[in-house]
Amino acid sequence: MRISPLRLSDAQHLADIFSKHEVYKLYARGKPIGEEQWRKSLQPVVQCWAEKMAGAPSVLSWRSLWLAGGSSGSGYLGHIGVGCPNKHGVVELSYSLHPDHWGHGYVTEALKIILVEDVLAVEEAKAIKITAHPENLRSLAVATRIGMVLVREGKQRFGSIRDKYKLSVDKLKKRATEWKKKGLSYSIIFENLPLY
Ligand SMILES: CC(C)(COP(=O)(O)OP(=O)(O)OC[C@H]1O[C@@H](n2cnc3c(N)ncnc32)[C@H](O)[C@@H]1OP(=O)(O)O)[C@@H](O)C(=O)NCCC(=O)NCCS
Repeated sequence: MRISPLRLSDAQHLADIFSKHEVYKLYARGKPIGEEQWRKSLQPVVQCWAEKMAGAPSVLSWRSLWLAGGSSGSGYLGHIGVGCPNKHGVVELSYSLHPDHWGHGYVTEALKIILVEDVLAVEEAKAIKITAHPENLRSLAVATRIGMVLVREGKQRFGSIRDKYKLSVDKLKKRATEWKKKGLSYSIIFENLPLY
C-alpha cells in the first residue's frame, strides 16, 4: 500500500467511493457526496499541505491510500483525514475505503503509521477521536482496533446521530510501541510527495 498527501484531483476518487450506498448511508447526512462538494471541502486541506511542504508547521493532514504501484483511479483505496487539534488538543480523524477493498485491514494498518507520523509528531495533540453512527459497525471496529473507547453515545452531529470514541495521546504512545514490536501486515510506502 502507498500512503500519500491528499491532492485536489483525489476528489474524483472520493466522489466515486461516496456514490456507493453502503458508504454514504451511515455517513454524515446519509446522502452521496459528489466531486464538486469534495473539491470544496478539500481546498483548505490541500492548502495546508502546500504550507507544510513549504516548511510551515501546519498540523492538519489528510492522506490518500493507494494500492502499491497504482497511480490511476483503479489503484485508489480511500482516505484518512487528520484534523487540527481543537483547543483541548483533541484531533478528529476520518476515514473511508472503497467497498471493493473492505475487509483487508488497509485502514487499520495505514492509521498505525499516520497516527505515529502525523499525530504523535504534533505537540498540541492530547487525544484522538472519531464520531460515527452507532450502526456504522465497520467504522467503530476500526476505532476499537486502534484502542479507542466509547466516551459518549448518540449525539446529533453532521445531521445524524453519532457516538464518540476517543484515545489519549499517552495511551496512543503505548499502543504505538506495541505496533512497532509486532510490525505491520503490509509493506507500506509512506510518501510526502509534491502536491500537484
Ligand atoms: C470504515 C471503513 C473504512 C472500514 O473498512 P474496513 O475494511 O472494515 O476496515 P479495515 O481496512 O481496517 O479492515 C478491517 C477488516 O479487515 C480484516 N483484516 C484483515 N487483515 C487485517 C489486518 N492486518 N489488520 C486489521 N484488520 C484486518 C479485519 O478482520 C476486518 O474485517 P471484518 O470486519 O470482516 O472482520 C469502511 O467501512 C468505510 O469506508 N465505510 C464508509 C465510510 C465511513 O463510514 N467512514 C467512517 C466515518 S468516521
